[in-house]
Amino acid sequence: MTKKRLVMGNWKMHGSLDQNAQLLNQLIADLGNAHSQTDIVVCAPHPYLAQLQQLLSGSPIQWGAQNMSEHEAGAFTGEVSATMLKDFGCQWVLLGHSERRALYGETDTLVLAKTQAALQAGLTPVVCVGETEAEHEQNQTQSVILQQLQQLLELSPDLLRRLVIAYEPVWAIGTGKSASPEQAQSVHAYIRGLLQQAEAPNVRILYGGSVNPTNAADLFKMPDIDGALVGGASLKANDFLSIAAA
Ligand code: G3H
Repeated sequence: MTKKRLVMGNWKMHGSLDQNAQLLNQLIADLGNAHSQTDIVVCAPHPYLAQLQQLLSGSPIQWGAQNMSEHEAGAFTGEVSATMLKDFGCQWVLLGHSERRALYGETDTLVLAKTQAALQAGLTPVVCVGETEAEHEQNQTQSVILQQLQQLLELSPDLLRRLVIAYEPVWAIGTGKSASPEQAQSVHAYIRGLLQQAEAPNVRILYGGSVNPTNAADLFKMPDIDGALVGGASLKANDFLSIAAA
């Protein structure tokens, strides 16, 4: 099965109505045919999803959210459900980003519950995993990733095949210090092996962490790197489109 490459922008907590309109209009105008071989997605803060729906509907650019609740509805002040995201045309949701794990205490069990809720609602969850710098230096990358993925890998193969996994080494996020293509490939190959054992070998595995227009092409040459999750560079239309076209 040929997999379409996937390039996702994670705006994190950036943007304003004016800045978003400028960025999205430039993305649409300059997209060219980058989308013919690549799914292109932007993930915005929740308040701007209506704006994304308005500006991106009918364009080849898809959109999603950066987080959601594991609950469908109820007394969960401040939370947003998968169904609400669907109301605003989201097809995608990032789950378990390292910032959510580190700053908001998201556990593997919670990420699993959110993943199940997203799948139930028909969203595509993009589940993020990755080791910290200390874990990297102590050669614990594989064990950390196994731990983060273990419960997910027990989902039925049919459900598992609907996920995307993003490998984001924490030490590479926002540091300008990307993993080398070989370093990333070796972790992606390990994740691929786990997915193969779970009968979901074709799940797309994205790399994230200081991806930019200069390093994207070399990363994408690696056999198990199926695209990128882009933070900082997704806030500049030219950079994001260069990555998508790489
Ligand atoms: O979700 C995106 C990642 O955290 C990567 O961010 O491209 O700014 O390093 P970055």
